Amino acid sequence: MGFFDNMRKPKGKLGKIQLKSMNKEHTPVSLWGLKHLDIKPDDVILDVGCGGGINVKRMAEKAQKVYGIDYSIESVNLSREVNYQEIYDGKVEIQKGNVKSLPYDDNTFDAVTAFETVYFWPDIEKCFGEVKRVLKLGGTFLIGMESNGSDNLMMRLSEKLIDMNVYDDEEITGFLTNNQFSEITVYLRDGKNKQEIIKSNGNVIRMDDDYSNISFSDKFLEWMTVVAVK
Ligand SMILES: C[S@@+](CC[C@H](N)C(=O)[O-])C[C@H]1O[C@@H](n2cnc3c(N)ncnc32)[C@H](O)[C@@H]1O
Repeated sequence: MGFFDNMRKPKGKLGKIQLKSMNKEHTPVSLWGLKHLDIKPDDVILDVGCGGGINVKRMAEKAQKVYGIDYSIESVNLSREVNYQEIYDGKVEIQKGNVKSLPYDDNTFDAVTAFETVYFWPDIEKCFGEVKRVLKLGGTFLIGMESNGSDNLMMRLSEKLIDMNVYDDEEITGFLTNNQFSEITVYLRDGKNKQEIIKSNGNVIRMDDDYSNISFSDKFLEWMTVVAVK
């Protein structure tokens, strides 16, 4: 099991090391994504492909309850370790499972999040339908990615080496539209111009963004967050 396979489905000791590293390395892109999710104190949230569980922990600080799900037992175990206290307090539950068939009732969650994971989902459009099924009417689906699909040697290389797909915003918007999601908003980070570009219903807005806190490797990545409503 090599480095790239562990991104898709972490396994064993190396998988655990990589998950811990992802908790750290994905922090800037995750926080940037999370600022686009308005978490309310009574929200019940699901994080799909929860990996090392740090985003579950972050959201549990604001929400009533956060569920994490991942098809890797290594991810499930580390997420449980990282959220030990929150699980004890009844604020977090972590389960093993695949996004293609989520073990939750229809209309359960106020928000579903997916950070750095949709590249690996089989039949992504169908999986988006599964996310929609478990969202409440009016609930939000947030997809966070370290790639906007157009750039980025690292992602293109990964795509060649393992079973993963890098998407651009039009592809993601298409999968969402085909599942009748509405109010689709795309947030793109334009690293060169230190701007955040927002695309909403055909309108493009540009805003200055804060680049003071990004790591060396993040300088080579073009982030994208997509938010949609059921
Ligand atoms: C690159 S890691 C990202 C982890 C975490 N969300 C983060 O941002 O650091 C991708 C995670 O998605 C999980 N994953 C990939 N495909 C999945 C699927 N079909 N169902 C559930 N989890 C999946 C992997 O096991 C892995 O933990």
